[in-house]
Amino acid sequence: MSIRYDDARICIRPGELRDIPAFQALEATAFIDPWSRAGLESELTQKVSRTWLLELDGEPVATLMGWSMFGELQINRVAVRPDLRGQGLGRRIVQHALEQSRAEQVTVALLEVRFGNDAAVGLYESLGFERTGLRKRYYSDGTDAVLMRKELDPKPMLRPGLYAILDADRLGWLDGPTLERNLSQLLDYGRAAVEAGACAVQLRAKSLPNGDPARIRVYAALLQACGAHVPTVLNDEVDGLAGLTNLPGAGLHLGQQDTPAEVARQAVGPLTLLGLSTHDVAQVQAAAGRPVDYIGFGPIHATVGKRGHDAVVGVDGLRQVVTHARVPVVAIGGITAQDLQPVRNAGAHAAAVIGAWLGPAGQPWSPARAGAALRDLVAVWSRPENTP
Ligand SMILES: CC(C)(COP(=O)(O)OP(=O)(O)OC[C@H]1O[C@@H](n2cnc3c(N)ncnc32)[C@H](O)[C@@H]1OP(=O)(O)O)[C@@H](O)C(=O)NCCC(=O)NCCS
Repeated sequence: MSIRYDDARICIRPGELRDIPAFQALEATAFIDPWSRAGLESELTQKVSRTWLLELDGEPVATLMGWSMFGELQINRVAVRPDLRGQGLGRRIVQHALEQSRAEQVTVALLEVRFGNDAAVGLYESLGFERTGLRKRYYSDGTDAVLMRKELDPKPMLRPGLYAILDADRLGWLDGPTLERNLSQLLDYGRAAVEAGACAVQLRAKSLPNGDPARIRVYAALLQACGAHVPTVLNDEVDGLAGLTNLPGAGLHLGQQDTPAEVARQAVGPLTLLGLSTHDVAQVQAAAGRPVDYIGFGPIHATVGKRGHDAVVGVDGLRQVVTHARVPVVAIGGITAQDLQPVRNAGAHAAAVIGAWLGPAGQPWSPARAGAALRDLVAVWSRPENTP
């Protein structure tokens, strides 16, 4: 049974040229044919290379080197400092490599390992790798190689289409004692959105403040109801969501005033879909260097919601900013059926809707009717250009 090191003591980061001495030292303890300095230099700089260094209390103690191409991660080397083996560090660094690779849409991890290297085979098998064959006399000393493989679920990306915002406060029933009673109805709205073909479901529940455990409970239930294939996104919350790190289908959407995206990414892991609201060109440009998967841009129209003070950007404003965006743009703000084609033709990847699928504020439609409305919106969005 592996030791469980406290996360605070461990840092896993990509290898850099300044780490060559650490890579060399660890290689020398682990392999009969350690990489030369020149070889490591090339490994650390090639575009396909993926290298990671694990530091324990600031000291480099494990390395992993691999290549990522054509949707495959080839793991070439894993080394843990001899006196720290058998303490779970090998598993930590391989797990990290697999998570990071899933985040970049890798679907399979492959490797070969010396026949008889029980520790390595045991490590990979403990992570779900399967033996797929034997390569005879593969190594220079005549030892056979065991071939191993693990299928990965790539990170679910945001599909183009309708991004359904489930605004619990607009529906008017997430306060205090009514919460539990109305939760099952909220989940029905979520399921209806997924069945109607939404590309994402976002929970907005301003009446449940950040840090309120009920907020995370409601979100976790919605995530489960919506399933792993359609991202379920929570608005403005990091602390509680860190407990749901890397859960299939999880997402977080931040406003400009919320936790910085870099901090949020650390908390929620690479596999959580992360979005950021933007309202002008400068914010869109700034988002390009940040660890977000998509940006919201708006308001397209004036709204009475929380962002009422942001200047209306209109479809023209949207058209101007999409060229500056490095990630998909979700148009938001008072969008109705008539806006869908213009918004799509302006280059938006998706359109966020609230009232257009939930019905008027204070008089929400039933989940069934909301689902039908959303299905109609999806059909309009999918229509070829210039079709009435
Ligand atoms: C292989 C290596 C990377 C494993 O790292 P590690 O930190 O010792 O492994 P962990 O402690 O994370 O162990 C994870 C799992 O691997 C398996 N494992 C680890 N050591 C094992 C051993 N000696 N025998 C059998 N299984 C072993 C176990 O299933 C273990 O899980 P458990 O502790 O819950 O039972 C390490 O031994 C090493 O650096 N070896 C030299 C270099 C090498 O051979 N690299 C791999 C080929 S590139």
